[in-house]
Amino acid sequence: MEYSSIKDALAKKSGKVKIRGWCYRERGSNAVRFIVMRDSSEIIQCVFDKEKLVPELWEESKKIKMEASFEVSGELAKNEKAPTGYEIQVEELKIIGLSDTYPISKDFSPEFLLDQRHLWLRSRKMTASLKIRSTILFALHEFSRKNGFIEVQAPSLSGATSEGGSDTFEVKYFDKKAYLTQSWQFYAENVINAVEKAYAIAPSFRAEKSKTPWHVTEFWHYEIEGAWMDLADNMKLAEEAIEYSIKMVLAENRSELEIVGADISMLEKIKAPFKKITYEEAIKTLNDNGHKIKSGDDFGSAEERGLAKYYGNNFVFVTNYPLSLLKFYHGEDEKKPGTGTNFNLLAPGVGEMVDGSQREPDLKKIIERLKNAKMDLGASDWYLDSRRYGSVPHAGFGLGVERFAAWVCGFKTIKDSIPFPRTPNRFSP
Ligand code: 4AD
Ligand code: MG
Repeated sequence: MEYSSIKDALAKKSGKVKIRGWCYRERGSNAVRFIVMRDSSEIIQCVFDKEKLVPELWEESKKIKMEASFEVSGELAKNEKAPTGYEIQVEELKIIGLSDTYPISKDFSPEFLLDQRHLWLRSRKMTASLKIRSTILFALHEFSRKNGFIEVQAPSLSGATSEGGSDTFEVKYFDKKAYLTQSWQFYAENVINAVEKAYAIAPSFRAEKSKTPWHVTEFWHYEIEGAWMDLADNMKLAEEAIEYSIKMVLAENRSELEIVGADISMLEKIKAPFKKITYEEAIKTLNDNGHKIKSGDDFGSAEERGLAKYYGNNFVFVTNYPLSLLKFYHGEDEKKPGTGTNFNLLAPGVGEMVDGSQREPDLKKIIERLKNAKMDLGASDWYLDSRRYGSVPHAGFGLGVERFAAWVCGFKTIKDSIPFPRTPNRFSP
């Protein structure tokens, strides 16, 4: 008989089934044992009845402890009291791998679960999270390609940094120093002069000591860059990518969303276009709501989360930050001098989820901005070749995949949206 997944077995509703998986929990008496099996698809109760089993099989069933792997076949029967409404009256059993006393039982702290992450991934919550994350990554790839963007990789090791010095991981590169990439952007801004539309989904590294729930030192970065694009095109692309991904998760991961306790009706209401405000409007709204912030100040996480809340608990784009708060590569808005053609997309409960801009295309202006910022591109001077040889208007953005996935799931930390989180004091398992 062929194996079926537990989900497919449940769908049969009756008849003989053969399944394999791991022991999710077990209890029983001297007469009957209830062992819930899990596989990657579902869980189901397996009933071992001493009276109906040959003695060797009954003895064998007692060896199954939490997380042991085994296979069973038997008759599927309805039982409303069973966790998924059905159970299997076991007729045959084969133990595949016994299990030592499983370290994760009750009363676990978040730190303990991070120490045991390689095992904790077997939990229903983490398995569901992995599947939702996988759908989001697939959706972002599909969305980019459907819109004509070419996937182009950049190296993770580079001779210089892009986003700034203090947040970079330095590594030994033979007898020289190299840095782990913080962003794909410098490469992308050159690549678009070849392929016009490019994107990548890859790890970015940040040596940030910040121990907030929304920072990891290695995150997956969806970055996209297009020639001939302006700020409005850029925001449209960002909101459509998000809407597209949410739709796909809703279509493919209903049961996973339920397992993680996501707010499904809220997700169903998310529709592009999102609200757009300027930095100055944001400052006003914040002060109206009791924040003490003046024009020119950067937003902290309280302000970013506050803004998403004040604008209907929804995504909100904030554009036109003062140039003093921006990197040298963001363009300047001719209609609002002194402010950038940039945006941050803020998400309720999370804060900044996407960061993008129409870039400064003019070499002289960029050099001026670098001078003002007392910055020297050094080994990254090749970046400016994008402006030296046929510079064109262009724009792009970066989206933190974990921040997006954690927002979709309604998690309190992005650590639940990456299989093996890296933080300032954790790089194992
Ligand atoms: O705002 P960031 O630093 O912008 C850039 O790197 C640009 N070069 C992107 C671009 O225009 N191509 O990072 C972009 C996004 C943030 O909005 C956030 O979602 C995520 O990356 N991010 C992090 N996610 C998790 N942990 C961290 N330490 C993150 N730092 C940034
Ligand atoms: Mg940013």
